[in-house]
Amino acid sequence: MNARAPLFLLFAFLITISGCNQNPKSEAGFRLPDGNAIQGREVFLYMQCNQCHTIAETELPAIPFADPPYVELGGRVATVKTYGDLVTSIINPSHKLAKGYAKEKVSEDGKSKMYTYNRHMTIQELIDLVAFLQSHYDVVPPQFDYRIYPH
Ligand code: HEC
Repeated sequence: MNARAPLFLLFAFLITISGCNQNPKSEAGFRLPDGNAIQGREVFLYMQCNQCHTIAETELPAIPFADPPYVELGGRVATVKTYGDLVTSIINPSHKLAKGYAKEKVSEDGKSKMYTYNRHMTIQELIDLVAFLQSHYDVVPPQFDYRIYPH
């Protein structure tokens, strides 16, 4: 091996990590404390998330609501629904719309039809909700194209 190769690799590595840290919008370092899934279920019902959501293989009381866009949460997904994905879906729903649904069903003018809870939800409620939701995702390797279609 060329004697300078290790030095070059170190240099390349330093450029890479310094590059990552330079973006002030980077999510690096973001971490909420662990939540309580049981409390999260309470929050889910109390905030009436079940107006528009079902949870895979979970019985939840139905709420009568005019034509809700039922979006299933949890269930089998090909990639991990990370902590960051779920927090973002709740506090910034239009950032990335849920996959597998017709756009006009779940959004209007590019904005998610989901309510904004940011002024009403405590951080503890958010943390517990994420713990609750995360426990319902079951990651399966993508051997085939698995999609959840609207009911
Ligand atoms: C008025 C209907 C409505 C209510 C109430 C609602 N949502 Fe949503 N939600 C949606 C729609 C529509 C989508 C799909 C579009 C999108 O990704 O924002 C969605 C998407 C999501 C997603 C992302 C799903 C995915 O597969 O990417 C999560 C997580 C979520 N909602 C959680 C919640 C939680 C938690 C609550 C209660 C605090 C809630 N929602 C209340 C309509 C609603």
